[in-house]
This record gives sequence, structure tokens and C-alpha cells, in this order.
Amino acid sequence: MSELALLGGEKAKKSPFGKGKRFGKEELKHLEEALEQNTLFYWNGNKVKEFNEKFAQMYGVKHCVAASSGTASIHVGLGAAGVTAGDEVITSPITDMGSVIGILYQNAIPVFADLDPHTYNMDPESIEGKITEKTKAVLVVHLAGNPADMDAIMNIAKRYNLKVVEDCAQSYMCYYKGRLAGTIGDVGCFSLNDFKHISSGDGGMCIMNDEDTFLKAFKFADKNYSRLSQDAQALRKIDFLAPNYRMTELQGAVALAQLDKLEWICQKRHEYGEGISKGIEGLQGIYPHMVTDGGRCSFWFYMFRINERELGASREEFSKSLAAEGVPNQAGYIPACVYEYELFVKKNAYQGTDCPFGCKFYGKDINYYKGMCPVAEEILDTAVRIPVNEFYTKQDMNEVIEAIRKAAKYYILRKLKK
Ligand SMILES: Cc1ncc(COP(=O)(O)O)c(C=O)c1O
Repeated sequence: MSELALLGGEKAKKSPFGKGKRFGKEELKHLEEALEQNTLFYWNGNKVKEFNEKFAQMYGVKHCVAASSGTASIHVGLGAAGVTAGDEVITSPITDMGSVIGILYQNAIPVFADLDPHTYNMDPESIEGKITEKTKAVLVVHLAGNPADMDAIMNIAKRYNLKVVEDCAQSYMCYYKGRLAGTIGDVGCFSLNDFKHISSGDGGMCIMNDEDTFLKAFKFADKNYSRLSQDAQALRKIDFLAPNYRMTELQGAVALAQLDKLEWICQKRHEYGEGISKGIEGLQGIYPHMVTDGGRCSFWFYMFRINERELGASREEFSKSLAAEGVPNQAGYIPACVYEYELFVKKNAYQGTDCPFGCKFYGKDINYYKGMCPVAEEILDTAVRIPVNEFYTKQDMNEVIEAIRKAAKYYILRKLKK
């Protein structure tokens, strides 16, 4: 058996990872056209409008509302779903802050459900266990390109009359039983930040079929202005608070060009992730990133888990060893579950106050603490995350597999010799 690179042996990853340009002439052409319009305001220009139409068409839905970020799109989705002060919204503890910011800005209360240990998505049973008379919505996070168990979640939502907002920031072209994630709940929300499958620097969008939800989202993303009204006097008839999350024509131009690349990007990432899973299948102590039953994953990242006892190595040792083999990786993902952040533990969302947790419209007590979602915490303690990129090659995939196999075999043998 070849020596670990960590101990002076040859690296398993022998070639540099594939690279490529995300932006090119296509983006430039749309940007030039946007500037030629002599306006960068979405309502007066055509790029954002065209983008909305094209994305809705790609997703087979009636409407798309562009926004300034993924965080903004989730806030818009929640606003359109009617989430307001004192409501509880059930979501995932392993996600970006952007999932919960909109909940808090609506003066609503995030409630965290535990996760499936291998898909890293919300466990329907845990969701149901967290429902109270205050629950208004479920914000489903489809993590890393992998769909959540939507049949079970939609069934719960129906039984308890809950809205379902899907956070697809990490999950473009992600399918659940033949349906695209983002089209199953009431609203699907996406991010165009620079780390996502496609980028416009920053940006986001909401998709939906329901006309009333669309009208609400459209207004909510733009200060609750009634731009669709024929009556000019109606524009500023503001009936309640909404932010300004408008997308500019520059973002719309880049986003339009990026849409043409989306299918290819997701296909490449899907193949890469599936290939890694196949290549490390059956290794003792290593648990591949499991795709939800009936799902098709567009792998925003790949995250496997380690059973330290079975493998005979700590997660940290394995992570270091893999890095020495030439495979960049991260031991874990976010540093702790979202509910462990000081904002939650100290209930300090609006600085120096206990809003929204102490809101009179909530009228209940909630506490956030370590141990709240044990499976999610265990995932973060035992996961190793490796990057996925559409420009990675088959050789990259094979060398990464080789690195994981080589390190795992070394530690298993070492354990046997002890
Ligand atoms: C799951 C998830 N939700 C929401 C967001 C927020 O998106 P944005 O950064 O575009 O605001 C992100 C971004 O990292 C995310 O990964």
C-alpha cells in the first residue's frame, strides 16, 4: 500500500484541478445592451423582466420575482406567504444566516428541526414535532443541491395548514421525484451570490404559480409599491412595511447570460458528486453524501461523514491527511448549528433588546441551546466537505476518490494492527 502523503509518501492528487471562466462574451453582450437602454432601473429596462420570464419558463412556473440577494428572496417569500410578528417558522439548523434573516426581520421566530443524518436535510418527523399553534410556515432548506423529503413535508403542511417556502439557494436544477425543488411549495427562493451555481455578483429570485402570492411578492420586493396597478395614484398606497430588494439591470443582464449555462453546470456537478459517491461506496467508516430517495442532486458541495470508531482515525486527522494528498477540504461546514450563534443563545437579534423573541404577539418563551438538534450537531462534528466545481475533470474525480480510499485504507489497517 502506498504511503500516506502526510507521512512523506506521494500525493494521490497529481494534477491541478480543472479551472474555467464563469463569465464571458455572453455576459458582456447583455451588459452592453443594459447600458444602452440608458436606465438601470428594472421597471424601466428589459433585462430583469426578461430574466424573470426566462427563469420562470425554465422552471415551468407562472411567475418569477427577482431580488437583490438570496437572503432578500427568502424575506420576500416569507412576506408573500404572510409571515408576520409572532409567527413561528420551522427551518434547518445547518444553513446560511440568509435563511433566518428574513424570519427575524418579519419579527417572526425561527424554530429549528433536526436533520436526516445522511442527506443533511430536515427530518419530517422532527418538523411535525416542532409544530405549535404559532407555526405559520416551514422554510425548507435543500442543502447542497440535494432535495428535502418533499412528499412528507407537503403532507405535514397540508394537515396543519402551513405555508411552505423553499430555500433553493444551494439547489439549482435539483429534482425531487421528477419535480424541480422550488416548484413544490408555495414559493421557491434562489441566490445568485458569487459562490452559487450561477452568479450575478449578488442577486436572487422567488418563483411561484399562485397569482396572489406573485402580486404580494412583487410588491414586497419593491417597498410595497403597486407598480402593476393601472392607477398612478395607487403606487404609494402603502398598507404595510416592506423592504427595497430590487435587482438592477446590471445584475439582470449577467443573470440572463448565466441561465444559458445553468443546465450544463448542474449536469457536471451532478456527475461529479455521483461519481465520488460511487467511488467511495462501501469504505468502512466513510459515509457518502446521500441523495434523498427519488432525488437528483446538483451537488453545490460534497460532504461525507466519518465514523471515527469504524475508521480508526479522528475526523481532524482524516481531513489533514486528505489535504496532504492534495485534496482541499474542510472538517465540517458551518462552525456550529445556527441556533448556537450568540444572536439566538442570548436572544439578541435587535441589539440590546429581546425582539422578536419577547414580542407581545409571540407571547411565549423560547430558548436556543446546544443539544437542541443532536443529529445536526453530530453531522457538523463528523463531516468532511470537499468542493465541487463544474470545471473539475474525470481525472480530478478519480484522483479525489483515490485520495479518500488511500487514506481510509491506511487508517483501517492501522486500527487492525493495534
Ligand atoms: C442555503 C442558503 N440560504 C440562503 C443564502 C443566502 O443567499 P445570499 O448570500 O445570496 O443572500 C445562502 C447563501 O449562502 C444559502 O447557502
